[in-house]
Amino acid sequence: MSGAAQSFVSSPVAGVAGDIRVPGDKSISHRAAMLGAIAQGTTEIQGFLEGEDCRATLAALVAMGVGIERLAPGQLRVHGVGLRGLKAPGRALDLGNSGTSMRLLAGILAGQAFDSELVGDASLMRRPMERVAAPLRLMGAGIRTRDGLPPLSIEGGCLLRGCEHALEIPSAQVKSALLLAGLYAAGPTCVSEPGVSRDHTEHMLEAFGVTVARSGSSASIAGPATLAATRIDVPGDFSSAAFFLVAGLVAGSAPLRIRDVGVNPTRTALIDILRLMGADIRLHEVTAQAGEPRADIEVRPCTLRGIVVPAALVPIALDELPILFAAAAVAEGDTVVTGAAELRVKESDRLAAMADGLEAIGVAVERLADGLLIRGGPVTGGVVTSRGDHRVAMSFAVLGARARSPIAIRDVQNVATSFPGFAETARAAGLRLEEAG
Ligand code: S3P
Repeated sequence: MSGAAQSFVSSPVAGVAGDIRVPGDKSISHRAAMLGAIAQGTTEIQGFLEGEDCRATLAALVAMGVGIERLAPGQLRVHGVGLRGLKAPGRALDLGNSGTSMRLLAGILAGQAFDSELVGDASLMRRPMERVAAPLRLMGAGIRTRDGLPPLSIEGGCLLRGCEHALEIPSAQVKSALLLAGLYAAGPTCVSEPGVSRDHTEHMLEAFGVTVARSGSSASIAGPATLAATRIDVPGDFSSAAFFLVAGLVAGSAPLRIRDVGVNPTRTALIDILRLMGADIRLHEVTAQAGEPRADIEVRPCTLRGIVVPAALVPIALDELPILFAAAAVAEGDTVVTGAAELRVKESDRLAAMADGLEAIGVAVERLADGLLIRGGPVTGGVVTSRGDHRVAMSFAVLGARARSPIAIRDVQNVATSFPGFAETARAAGLRLEEAG
């Protein structure tokens, strides 16, 4: 994180417009690197997100003997070692701030012949890991947490068997870990969820030649399965585009186009929610590669109206709720989000971080057990802290454009985990964003 800004100051503007791109999709980048590493042959990846989270995944794979060449920015060549070719890393794998790295790698490491230990930064060391460890144990994995939290200690040499898992809450990270462990298991592994979660693992396994049987919200694979190297072209990250989508709606002067963004329907519920609030959002140039749709997203300035967000949309908009709360703060009327308790165990307690920050800049918020009620109205400006959470930091950076006076945002270094170059992109879109420290 050396060199990353410690704080932002975002000042009022009404001129967000133009044509921008956002960096590669974080979820897809993690999966491309991991599957490329355990495939037979050489996988080429374009558009890889060079943020700290995905770099943590790369470093872990390199520590286990995978050769990874960086040919150009975002362009990687991963020399796959095959399903059984990873080597003991010789030290704990430090996954920084990245929950996706820790949970998905746990699935792969459960099937190895060697012991491993997974650690992370202060935020990751507070995140729940039994949700992935417990179902892996059912498959025969030897895996320990410390009172449910990292470090994860994973025993080598355990023989995995396929299993039927019924998750209590939808989670793409848990589902993915179990499907990845299923690659090493004898027999079928089936994961069903009580709702929709992002399905990038399923699409990417298929791109690597593994058959995934899907029905409703369950997915299964038959193990052991081998993967064949391929080419992956990573689209822009919808979760990063979300900040500019809202900026263009609430602080725009003309249309804003965000080029080549992944619009997998398991990711884009924010578009549905914003349309219910009155937003004008259009998709152009829609194409698909390896099951992953992508498009240019165009937004036009408008006045948003507060709504009660439909319960079915909340679980698949979770990563975008911080920026939705920011949008709600400048909407007309109240916006209510419930069913979002999972936000408390993300990189920070995002319900608390957003409520505290919004109150600090003059927004009336009612804190609910599993959500927030936000009263739209004028935003005064002031000082907020992100609690080290990238998505909280970027949400307030966008809101600064619509405040009456600047918003200073502290503790923003972790923006580099998911969106390297955020401040430059923000300025290119017309935001007045200064970085300090
Ligand atoms: C992710 C899954 C989501 C999301 C996270 C990335 C993934 O978490 O919040 O940022 O890449 O699988 P869940 O596992 O809770 O769905």
